[in-house]
Amino acid sequence: MVHRTFLVLFLAALFIAGAQSTTVFLTNKCPYTVWPATLTGGGSQQLSTTGFELPSGDTSSLQVPPNWTSGRIWGRTGCTTNSTTSKFTCLTGDCASGQIECNGAGGIPPATLIELTLNGNGNGIDFYDVSLVDGFNLPVSVEPRGDHGCNATRCAGDVNGVCLPELSVTAGDGRVVGCKSACLALKEPKYCCSGEFNTPEKCPPTGYSKLFKAQCPQAYSYAYDDGSSTFTCPTGDNYLVVFCP
Ligand SMILES: *[C@@H]1O[C@H](CO)[C@@H](O)[C@H](O)[C@H]1NC(C)=O
Ligand SMILES: *[C@@H]1O[C@H](CO)[C@@H](O)[C@H](O)[C@H]1NC(C)=O
Ligand SMILES: *[C@@H]1O[C@H](CO)[C@@H](O)[C@H](O)[C@H]1NC(C)=O
Repeated sequence: MVHRTFLVLFLAALFIAGAQSTTVFLTNKCPYTVWPATLTGGGSQQLSTTGFELPSGDTSSLQVPPNWTSGRIWGRTGCTTNSTTSKFTCLTGDCASGQIECNGAGGIPPATLIELTLNGNGNGIDFYDVSLVDGFNLPVSVEPRGDHGCNATRCAGDVNGVCLPELSVTAGDGRVVGCKSACLALKEPKYCCSGEFNTPEKCPPTGYSKLFKAQCPQAYSYAYDDGSSTFTCPTGDNYLVVFCP
């Protein structure tokens, strides 16, 4: 009897754990259309969508299957379909697939990245962050939605507005639409924490990364910015991503 009860509980627990899937809601509070894109890491299958259009004011949702462990989400801006070639391209965050769906391609930086690891290694913990390691294109936030009381993280500042000329990406009309990180723009080991600068001790913040950090204190401003930029939540929450929070 005891054994049978235990077995039933055990199977129920297994079922619940196995059936747990996460929903990521995406809301566009920007005054312009954003084309969200997703890229799955770690050998899992891509999500059911890898790119779609999200008009200003709209909310959409992504169902993340239980066996999905990690990936990134970013917003593309200034996208158009060329009437001659039928190719879809974006001013920022373009994944060069020629289509709205990225189909496993990453975004061309600079783009503000939302990085998600859900129950990695089956450890029951989700990790999430906003990364400007490759640069910035638009403000974002990530907010766990559940009863664990986990903290949101965001990059709500206007990095484009303070971007230095040597890091700026401009549209045809001269408007700054993206801001490269110093690593991306200048490709020096001291900005990329590579070569002889490959430890946190040898790769402190620089004037460039501090400019990013001043606008977005919770976001990764350079490779070793973990202390103030990594967020965790017990697995089971859903997530809300907001563009222009
Ligand atoms: C994950 O689950 C999906 C559907 O539930 C399945 O098609 C896919 O093969 C699984 N992928 C892995 C890597 O287990
Ligand atoms: C569309 O693509 C063609 C061929 O690459 C190019 O010459 C043209 O400028 C593009 N049109 C627009 C509006 O970008
Ligand atoms: C949320 O942030 C507050 C203030 O930084 C911190 O004290 C608290 O421990 C955080 N909560 C969690 C669940 O990480």
